[in-house]
Amino acid sequence: MKTIIDELTGLLAKAFEECGYDPALGQVITANRPDLCDYQCDGALKGARKHRAAPMLVAGSVVRRLADNSFFAEISVAAPGFINLTLSDSKIIDRANEMARRAQAGAPRAEKPETIIVDYGGPNIAKPLHIGHLRAAIIGESIKRLMKLLGHKVIGDIHLGDWGLQIGLVIAELAERFPSQSCFGDGYRDGDQLPPLTADDLNEIYPLASQKSKEDQDFSGRAHQYTFDLQRGRPGVLALWRRIWEISVGDLKKNYEKLNVDFDLWYGESDADKYVERVISIFNEKGLLENSGGARVVYVQQEDDRSPVPPVIIIKSDGAVNYETTDIAALYQREKDFSPDRIWYVVDKRQALHFTQVFRASKKADIAAGKTELLHLGFGTMNGLDGKPYKTRDGGIMRLSDMIETVTSAALDKMKASDFVAADLREDVARKIGVAAIKFGDLSNHRLKDYVFDLDRFLSFDGKTGTYLLYTVTRINSILKKAGRGAPEAAPGRLKGLYSPAERQLLLKIIGAADLFWLAAREKAPNFICESAYQIAAAFSLFYRDNHILSENDPDKKESWLNLCALTQVWLKLHLDVLGIEAVDFM
Ligand code: ARG
Repeated sequence: MKTIIDELTGLLAKAFEECGYDPALGQVITANRPDLCDYQCDGALKGARKHRAAPMLVAGSVVRRLADNSFFAEISVAAPGFINLTLSDSKIIDRANEMARRAQAGAPRAEKPETIIVDYGGPNIAKPLHIGHLRAAIIGESIKRLMKLLGHKVIGDIHLGDWGLQIGLVIAELAERFPSQSCFGDGYRDGDQLPPLTADDLNEIYPLASQKSKEDQDFSGRAHQYTFDLQRGRPGVLALWRRIWEISVGDLKKNYEKLNVDFDLWYGESDADKYVERVISIFNEKGLLENSGGARVVYVQQEDDRSPVPPVIIIKSDGAVNYETTDIAALYQREKDFSPDRIWYVVDKRQALHFTQVFRASKKADIAAGKTELLHLGFGTMNGLDGKPYKTRDGGIMRLSDMIETVTSAALDKMKASDFVAADLREDVARKIGVAAIKFGDLSNHRLKDYVFDLDRFLSFDGKTGTYLLYTVTRINSILKKAGRGAPEAAPGRLKGLYSPAERQLLLKIIGAADLFWLAAREKAPNFICESAYQIAAAFSLFYRDNHILSENDPDKKESWLNLCALTQVWLKLHLDVLGIEAVDFM
């Protein structure tokens, strides 16, 4: 189904052309002055110079062409040359009914499905999952869901940091605690006992070992040696690594599940490692590897660079490989396994240089196919109320599991007053409200912006919050239920008319949502979905305030209103689903 803006633009483009002007001038946008009209076109102003005609004249002739079109209740020229468009009620109703009839209530679909890999999450095993990785998970999940909704084949890959020094640090510490275990020496045999280990142990060991390595050179040396041994595949170390991996990933899965985040692939740097040699030989064959102080590097500086882009170190002087090398190897694997149209990396914007280097080196060596779009979708920092990167009260980095607990209990406190939710469901509902609050609080800012984590505000029932959205959904639920409409998921019925200005406004928001979905997709920016969801919810509140749906006596009006409630419900849920937010039935 064409979006409303596409349909209007098509109409205007044709009219411009028929009047002898460039059809590209027919681009329609949502009105800047919703008090005057629904949509507008600024083409006459833009094209006046090219066509050597006064904007008012150009606009006037286009408007005359469209004056009788049933699409518009009003089409007029406003100085100095805007074309103002007001849709006719019948067009609004037709479109809403067409949406209601379609699968997923007319949700947008891409014409040509593509294969897109979204690399997001990026936690490091053996380290507790902390809120630094929270944004990657929240934003990446939403971008993945949006692209899936549009009909693309989307593969979400967590790209675990599971092959680095942090493993060596943990193993070095375990070696001190369990010196007699065979895995630390050369005598390890398959099936030998490994040190006992839990997720809590790992959470305790990593920070301690990391601190120790800063103070104790010998310890640090041993940690590096174990990392080296791991990467060379020494059996005992590898077996212990596998154990650490399983424990960590089990713990990660539990936390991500609470956040409603899931991945199609649980690959990591260790999987990419298998392709490192191949990648190095490709660089070699193409003569791209150069010597630089004992290291092997690829030069990627380009003439038009405004600031220097340093060469990519593929092999360090000690023979080890880098974060960059691993990412290039992962790219090689992705091309081989999926030959994707696009690979998007949802990673902290401070890693921009890393990705510039990786992309350039991969393209230079044809490891990434010419057609593959490689994009770093960066994001800003989550700050505390003091405007500095978010920390716990005692100054530490908050763990994700603690964060989920904090928001759940804050939501629980708010709910205590409510007797709408049965006691045994409260905990689950509270988690959903808490997670909705943090996700919406995050996603409603453009991803590149830093933002302030303000749980009180995020949990507020008014304003642009996840809580307000969930509340709106439950309100519609209860109206539909009281009206005896059972399954809210059923296709919404037909609208029969427009009976109040408030419902006209609500319908305009619903009809316009698809355009915002496309905008979000073009920009890879879920904040437009948040904005659309909020606009619909706010318009619904006004509609609900102005009209007494359940006590309405006119049966046609009442039925039409209930159908509008159902359509609003479906679209709000579509928005929430793309944001990765679970709705609740009551709160
Ligand atoms: N593990 C990395 C970190 O914690 C993030 C990984 C991002 N993805 C990637 N393909 N480099 O910084």
